[in-house]
Amino acid sequence: MVSYAVTGASRGLGLQEAAQKVASVTGGSLDVLINNGAYLDVETPALLPTALSAPENVEKVHKAFHKGVDTNVLGAIHVTNTFLPLILKGTQKKIVHISTAMGDTAWVTKAGVWGGLTYSATKAMLNLVVAKFAVELEGQGVLIFSLSPGWVDTDDFEPTPEAKAAEGYLLSLFQKYDPTVKGRITPEVSVRDQLETIGKVTTEVSGRMISQHGNENWF
Ligand SMILES: NC(=O)c1ccc[n+]([C@@H]2O[C@H](COP(=O)([O-])OP(=O)(O)OC[C@H]3O[C@@H](n4cnc5c(N)ncnc54)[C@H](OP(=O)(O)O)[C@@H]3O)[C@@H](O)[C@H]2O)c1
Repeated sequence: MVSYAVTGASRGLGLQEAAQKVASVTGGSLDVLINNGAYLDVETPALLPTALSAPENVEKVHKAFHKGVDTNVLGAIHVTNTFLPLILKGTQKKIVHISTAMGDTAWVTKAGVWGGLTYSATKAMLNLVVAKFAVELEGQGVLIFSLSPGWVDTDDFEPTPEAKAAEGYLLSLFQKYDPTVKGRITPEVSVRDQLETIGKVTTEVSGRMISQHGNENWF
């Protein structure tokens, strides 16, 4: 049976203790690590890049960056290193970092998405971190890559009118890039496709970002 550990479903255990608990369940190994946890700041996504330095925004922008880098970049580094000994003893040796096309410079410019700058920048950093780990771990049989889950409805609350308007705006933007986009996909569909892709990938994706479809179709 393949063993998976997914981060970001709860907090507060501490990394070492989390790895020890995983090891106690699996007998000291881990096949697939999925680093899903992320800080998605809600205060700055609607700010234009040219508004980030306005006096009324500076504090919240700095806070968003610091918390985003702590969780999405440093967290990813420490999660990888903490679970690496277990992964090296696993059968699949796969480390998956959940990222986003928002952190892909080519997609951002093609799709014309100026929003979510702080979150996107931390995910772009994450993608680079993944590439660096891939270079070091090449030769040890470890396959580490970034995986974009698609545009997924993970809200567990009724959206506010503002959130609905923001989603409508994003949909119109995304449809200019890809007219087949109908809206957010369900977590079930996203997870099904992600697991299928994780099961199939080979070393040629190591260090890269791919979508839930295993390619660069981000929706
Ligand atoms: N939804 C989308 O359309 C979409 C698109 C592209 C990429 N993604 C990526 O997919 C992943 C899941 O996103 P989501 O939509 O499910 O977001 P979400 O609902 O905000 O879930 C994020 C998870 O990360 C956890 N987390 C935050 N800070 C953490 C920390 N310091 N330590 C441990 N866990 C922490 C949160 O825990 P708490 O519940 O305790 O806060 C939460 O369970 C993220 O990596 C996100 O960047 C999502």
